[in-house]
Amino acid sequence: MERLALGVLISGRGSNLQALIDACADPAFPARIAVVLSNRADAGGLGRAAAAGIPCAVVPHRGHPDREGFERAVDGVLRDAGVGLVCLAGFMRVLTPWFVTAWADRLVNIHPSLLPAFPGLDTHRRALDAGVRFHGCTVHFVRPEVDAGPILVQAAVPVLPDDDEDRLAARVLAAEHRCYPLAVRLVAEGRVRIAGGRAVVDGPVGTPDATINPCDSAPA
Ligand code: GRF
Repeated sequence: MERLALGVLISGRGSNLQALIDACADPAFPARIAVVLSNRADAGGLGRAAAAGIPCAVVPHRGHPDREGFERAVDGVLRDAGVGLVCLAGFMRVLTPWFVTAWADRLVNIHPSLLPAFPGLDTHRRALDAGVRFHGCTVHFVRPEVDAGPILVQAAVPVLPDDDEDRLAARVLAAEHRCYPLAVRLVAEGRVRIAGGRAVVDGPVGTPDATINPCDSAPA
């Protein structure tokens, strides 16, 4: 089995990267991480990648004449590593249409809300302020609009009466760590297609509970 080569882009602590590293450690998992790239040399996730023996690259976003110049450098690293799917995992740079088009439908992101609710930053604070009863996370294909694109997997978590931002964030993060490997597995198995602007998953998904769900899955 040829495993799908992932390029994981990070800027920070890399707990979602770790979830992908752990999933890929299973030889039966249909993907492997070919390279981890950070725009920040101090990203904690780089240590996680190094500990797992995964090649790392640092491409600082400063020092390029424009955003596209930075992205061309990132693109070069990904192509040199033979990447087939780019996974944004806490990568804190907005990507230009050039990069998004170059990696069309081979570029996914994880976002800490149930999109299309709460795109952008401070999602947990905003969910608490809005008084929503459920919050969660979304893995989606990336489009030029920020935090938009066909939804692949979502997980919902309850918002509890005594939640603060940290407690809610921790509950969502635990869900993220289950969603991202699931989403990558579905793509790596070649079971995801984009139809009418939506991500369609073919075949059974075997999700462990009702609050984590790839959309539009067809019966077996
Ligand atoms: C996660 O909450 C992810 O959804 C968001 O950035 C955060 C990254 O966390 N895009 P980590 O670096 O994976 O721990």
